[in-house]
Amino acid sequence: MKIVPSLTDISQLTSSWKKQGQTISLVPTMGCLHEGHLSLMRKAKDMGGKVIVSIFVNPLQFGPNEDLASYPRQFVIDCELAENEGVDAVFCPENKYMYGDSFQTAVTVSKLSQGMCGKDRPGHFDGVSTVVAKLFNLTRADSAVFGQKDFQQLAVIRQLVKDLNFPIQIIGSPIVREDDGLAMSSRNKYLHGDSRQQALCLYSSIIAARELVTESRDKILAQTVIEQTKEIIARAGAALEYAVLKDESTLLDDVVVSSDSILVLAAKIDGTVRLIDNGRLFPD
Ligand code: PAJ
Repeated sequence: MKIVPSLTDISQLTSSWKKQGQTISLVPTMGCLHEGHLSLMRKAKDMGGKVIVSIFVNPLQFGPNEDLASYPRQFVIDCELAENEGVDAVFCPENKYMYGDSFQTAVTVSKLSQGMCGKDRPGHFDGVSTVVAKLFNLTRADSAVFGQKDFQQLAVIRQLVKDLNFPIQIIGSPIVREDDGLAMSSRNKYLHGDSRQQALCLYSSIIAARELVTESRDKILAQTVIEQTKEIIARAGAALEYAVLKDESTLLDDVVVSSDSILVLAAKIDGTVRLIDNGRLFPD
């Protein structure tokens, strides 16, 4: 497996692969890899061509009071994990080369970046869209795999690709969870003891919403699900940032629960660790 820190080298590597007739699949990450990330690599492998994993803690997507400096980093372990998955190259650019002194461009997906995480983290999705656009251009990947755990991020990226005509296929991959249901996240490293237990309230809310839906013969209002979610999160002692019911295909807010409804939520655990999760309310 190649470890490629240079922007020029990654472009040259992918050009040489393209000349050989290879296709390229990209898995963008910020490192501190876990089973969720590895599942994306397996999906990328299934595409049959070369696989690049990018590891870059992107400063543009962190707010001034967020955890950029303390974001967990484990580069050597990450490279071992990627290599074990048969990844062909890890692209690990340095910040100063990704964003030189004269850097001044931002990519904004205006509507889908608003609300939900966009409201709690102003500018976050501009940072994500900008870095992802750069990664697509640098790697010229034919496909890129993203996790459904970041529901809004996936929607923003699909829109970016559509609007700017990137010649790339975006593949969404299911959420990987711990045995007790907690969605895997690099930020779970911040959780210990009571806070690890408290973090289960996100998944419990999704399960409780599913039960509400399957047990009722009548139509259920989105508001009823949201009230129940608020109660569960508050009872656990966590702070709900948002809970919304979205239609998976239109991405509009649901008024009534339907077979396309997804409960999307974010909560702060122990007042500090911000976690997100989402889940369909009807079985697939
Ligand atoms: P990061 O949080 O490292 O996540 C990288 C990818 O892994 C994202 O597509 C995310 O949705 C996916 N992922 C994380 N946890 C997952 C889980 N439990 N199950 C399935 N997939 C999971 O998301 C980012 O980095 C950044 O915003 C990035 C897209 C790399 C741009 O900087």
